[in-house]
Amino acid sequence: MRNPAVFIYADLDELSAQAAARWVALAGQAIAARGWFHVALSGGSTPRHLYERLARAEFAARVDWRRVHIYFGDERCVAPDHPDSNFRMAREALLQHVPIPAAQVHRIETEQGDPRAAAYAYEQTLLRHMPAPHGRVQCDLMLLGLGPDGHTASLFPDTPILNERERLVAAVYVEKLQAWRISMTFPMIDHSRHILVMVAGRDKADVVRQALRGDTRAPRLPVQMIEAEGDVEWYMDRAAAQQLDDGQST
Ligand code: 6PG
Repeated sequence: MRNPAVFIYADLDELSAQAAARWVALAGQAIAARGWFHVALSGGSTPRHLYERLARAEFAARVDWRRVHIYFGDERCVAPDHPDSNFRMAREALLQHVPIPAAQVHRIETEQGDPRAAAYAYEQTLLRHMPAPHGRVQCDLMLLGLGPDGHTASLFPDTPILNERERLVAAVYVEKLQAWRISMTFPMIDHSRHILVMVAGRDKADVVRQALRGDTRAPRLPVQMIEAEGDVEWYMDRAAAQQLDDGQST
């Protein structure tokens, strides 16, 4: 990953407020420039705070939701109302609180039972709805998180999906989770106009240092394998950034 812009905030609350402001700004820029904002949401627990912020009038009122298309960077292979579902989390925290047309929320339909078929179907969804400048599908904003093992989306260490260079979406069996996941792949992530990585918590300090300051000769973490063509920003709280030697706070 080329040198990203790193922003460090006091805590998750401030991080989420700043990320919400960035999200709103990028949405306004995309809609003004191209008429639409195509954004891929990340899952897990960290972004829930961002989504809840975005749902508040102070931010939601500044987004033309009729011009927004929502996608998911990855999904667990569970029903959409399952507690582990990234779609359910986003719906509860954001989507049911804002006037986005239902047809513009593109969830990964994992309940079909065949992860590979669901991945293929989702790739077709991206090809149908996302713009494809120069013939390659591109989202305006890709939100990503970071796991303690350096995974992002569902691109986990030592899994075959890391080698996928053709498909935009793939299914992956994650041994350590004993579970199937569906994830956007590096070709999809790399081509995003803007990537925003959100990381919070002391338990991420080690992997943040490794990802941003680590020995580049060491085996790369999945997050380090991103070769972004657009801008990359890392938004962190102080706890996650505590092992960065030059931890400028913002
Ligand atoms: C998922 C996410 C995953 C997440 C990281 C960090 O579906 O779980 O896409 O990549 O971003 O695991 O998760 P936390 O924010 O919960 O630490």
